[in-house]
Amino acid sequence: QDPRIRRIASSIRVVPDFPKKGIMFQDITTLLLDPKAFKDTADLFVERYTGKGISVVAGVEARGFIFGPPIALAIGAKFIPLRKPRKLPGEVISENYVLEYGTDCLQMHVGAVQPGERALVVDDLIATGGTLCAAISLLERAGAEVVECACVIELPELKGREKLNGKPLYILMESH
Ligand code: PRP
Ligand code: MG
Repeated sequence: QDPRIRRIASSIRVVPDFPKKGIMFQDITTLLLDPKAFKDTADLFVERYTGKGISVVAGVEARGFIFGPPIALAIGAKFIPLRKPRKLPGEVISENYVLEYGTDCLQMHVGAVQPGERALVVDDLIATGGTLCAAISLLERAGAEVVECACVIELPELKGREKLNGKPLYILMESH
């Protein structure tokens, strides 16, 4: 395993019973306070996705907006924000999904991606997989090819990976 991952893992704070009892919240804000850990996180993704013909990085509001843009800038791809409802001013397509705690919806601007573009979906964490599944659907409905999803953390017990219908998922670490 890449030695950078240990430092990244130890920079993430785990907060028990947030936002609800029984949930071990993975707080990536403490990772962001460690500039080396933050840079290493971006670098690990950039090393994986450079030269793969990816022209689109799509990030999921809100925490995918933290990790997606540095990857997009470094690999020379556009960045598409997948937003919570009623935030985007243009024409949108929408996907509803069930979350670990509640339900929500993601929206994407029509015209943000062209048919056939190769896309990477970025978020901080996969739990039940509902969020990434909605993100993949938005991009595929717009004609993009989702090459892979990338997250810092996977909660394997929740089996979110199984919801991605075989779509490759790359993670830096598992959290139990
Ligand atoms: C969290 C996390 C992922 C999602 C994972 O986002 O950042 O996006 O949950 O859960 P899932 O795999 O069960 O769908 P959240 O919607 O809580 O909001 P935020 O990113 O705006 O903080
Ligand atoms: Mg999120």
